[in-house]
Amino acid sequence: MPTTILAIESSCDDTSASVLMDGKILSNCVASQDAHRLYGGVVPEVASRAHQINIIPVVDLAIRQAGIKKTDLDAVAFTRGPGLMGSLIVGVAFAKSLALSLDIPLIEVNHMDAHVLAHFAEDPKPRFPFLCLTVSGGHTQIVKVDAPDQMEVLGQTLDDAAGEAFDKTGKLLGLEYPAGPIIDKLAQQGKPVYDFPEPRIPDLDFSFSGLKTSILYFLKEQIKEDPDFIQHHLNDICASVQDRIVSILLKRLRKAARRTGIKEIAIAGGVSANSALRSGLAEMGQKEGWQTCIPKFEYCTDNAAMIAVAGYFKYQAGQFTDQSVQPAARF
Ligand code: KG4
Ligand code: ZN
Repeated sequence: MPTTILAIESSCDDTSASVLMDGKILSNCVASQDAHRLYGGVVPEVASRAHQINIIPVVDLAIRQAGIKKTDLDAVAFTRGPGLMGSLIVGVAFAKSLALSLDIPLIEVNHMDAHVLAHFAEDPKPRFPFLCLTVSGGHTQIVKVDAPDQMEVLGQTLDDAAGEAFDKTGKLLGLEYPAGPIIDKLAQQGKPVYDFPEPRIPDLDFSFSGLKTSILYFLKEQIKEDPDFIQHHLNDICASVQDRIVSILLKRLRKAARRTGIKEIAIAGGVSANSALRSGLAEMGQKEGWQTCIPKFEYCTDNAAMIAVAGYFKYQAGQFTDQSVQPAARF
């Protein structure tokens, strides 16, 4: 009999459900919440209420798209954390109820581990050990992955995440949330003519809050001379900001690769959609002799397929969770 797992992800503002059968993803449905655009960022209370509305239709759709019946399920995997508490509660409570009603085991998954393991949702898969740069609106870290359950964080952000740096810059420029994809697009018509400072952070950690402040002061100064500076130079500003964020990420990644001697390099998270990061990674990879791996975009952003993949590793190892489990905003 094949092993069939239903996975649920609700850690931030996307409600997602996925069905995996014997390691293969059969469906991966995501309900994104547009309401946050109005506020320029994710509002936890709004997110939690939207999860409540979306979770049943999304799970139902994932099961139908996979062409299975609820009674075919062998386990329910879910994101326990980290994430927004009000969002996690909805997914965790739903997963527990479903597992209880079907009398099947529960599998808790760490959201950050799942971003890394998303690379196993399709071929080619990275070989162990590999390094993974996870960059999204909530996370920025370099992880050394020795096995599915053996990961070591080598460096992480001390303040804002890389995606936040894009989004907060976008706010300063009057762009819609999330600004990352918009900055990426505008940057393609501009040149990185403005030099924003690189933060002086030791070792393999990151910091992006200083960059935001320097962009703010830069814009204030320029606007004194030309009130329409942003409109006149938007593409070049975007290209310059993007160039700096990407160079910070790639330099740290190269440092980690050289230090560990690992040449199997992966990136994950929503920011890995960035065209400059992708081309920069390919270029650096060629110079450094890396084997690079970037998952399909639907597996890069928050999604339940990555929870299903991580859950399947745990299922095979017999690592189940009991009904007393509680969501964890942090670990
Ligand atoms: O992984 P994700 O969907 O959600 C989490 O934050 O966990 O990532 C969303 C982030 C946002 O900050 C968004 O601006 C950024 O990924 N992003 C991008 C691009 N596409 C999405 N940033 C830069 N360039 C892009 N093309
Ligand atoms: Zn995420």
